[in-house]
Amino acid sequence: MSKPLIEISNLTVSTTDDNRTLVNDVSFSIAPGEAVGVVGESGSGKTLTALSLLGLLPRGVHATSGSITYGGKDLLTADRETLRSIRGNEIAMIYQDPMTALNPVMKLGAQLIEVIQSHGGDTSNAMERVLTAFSEVGIPDPKRAYESYPHEFSGGMRQRVMIAMALILSPQLLIADEPTTALDVTIQQQILALVMQERRKRNMSMLWITHDLGVVANLVDRVIVMYAGRIVEVGSVKEVFTNPQHPYTAGLLASLPKASDKNRTRLLSIPGIPPKPWTVGESCAFSPRCSKADQQCRSSLPVLATNTHTDAACFHLMGDNS
Ligand SMILES: Nc1ncnc2c1ncn2[C@@H]1O[C@H](COP(=O)(O)OP(=O)(O)O)[C@@H](O)[C@H]1O
Ligand SMILES: [Mg+2]
Repeated sequence: MSKPLIEISNLTVSTTDDNRTLVNDVSFSIAPGEAVGVVGESGSGKTLTALSLLGLLPRGVHATSGSITYGGKDLLTADRETLRSIRGNEIAMIYQDPMTALNPVMKLGAQLIEVIQSHGGDTSNAMERVLTAFSEVGIPDPKRAYESYPHEFSGGMRQRVMIAMALILSPQLLIADEPTTALDVTIQQQILALVMQERRKRNMSMLWITHDLGVVANLVDRVIVMYAGRIVEVGSVKEVFTNPQHPYTAGLLASLPKASDKNRTRLLSIPGIPPKPWTVGESCAFSPRCSKADQQCRSSLPVLATNTHTDAACFHLMGDNS
């Protein structure tokens, strides 16, 4: 395997005031040009993991251990100037709510110009670059968009503007945190197709975060499944979908609507809710919801281990399916 673009090792994120663990001992890497999906229910630590990569953890939480190696530097200990230059230039992020990234009282063109300027880019042809970026993301009238404010656009169009903003400095890694969750299905498909096309064209790495396993099926090379702050399974997209080894992943798959199901209703779902990560201790966090759980699962922590199909943290793997 080629040298990773970014390597996250034993990342742990906790609350600052009362030291509750929110992300627990997470390790993974992303290769140049590789697309990785992170899947898990709400609260599993996906967003905090992503924000750690950008040095943007919110107030009240901090990384208590681990390292994030990018370009020979540890992003967890890098100074603000280094992080600021890496953000946007090297690693860019798109969010569920485009207004996280957009300024409501500034014209869209000016906002993208500002991104180019703030990273010391060549501004002589900045307007042209912005118009090209708008047309690349499928905005029908780039000149009009340039002179518009965010509120003059629909949610789907704002999402496209945010993608243009994220891509304008040609980052090596694009992090997407549920950017299509709030959109209707048709627009969602259009945005996914757009991101896939741009990724191929630029050979950019991607980290795609979603609570919906179905979204990443045709989008990524590798899938990471998180549960209660930990990684419970990692594998190629093919193996995760055909031979999931962790009962949690198998449960997520079983709850996906089938293409053959006209109403696309969810027939099965995993009963119960995930525990708070800091309450789990030395046990498998999924054990209270798992039909395979026994005494061992309730009294010791399964570690992520390599198996025939995937890497999984489970004492009772699902076994061969194919
Ligand atoms: N600023 C914060 N202060 C305290 N707890 C937080 C903060 N942000 C997130 N959390 C908690 O950390 C856990 C993981 O959150 P998050 O990474 O947002 O999960 P996900 O993105 O998978 O839904 C959740 O239990 C959440 O409530
Ligand atoms: Mg989140």
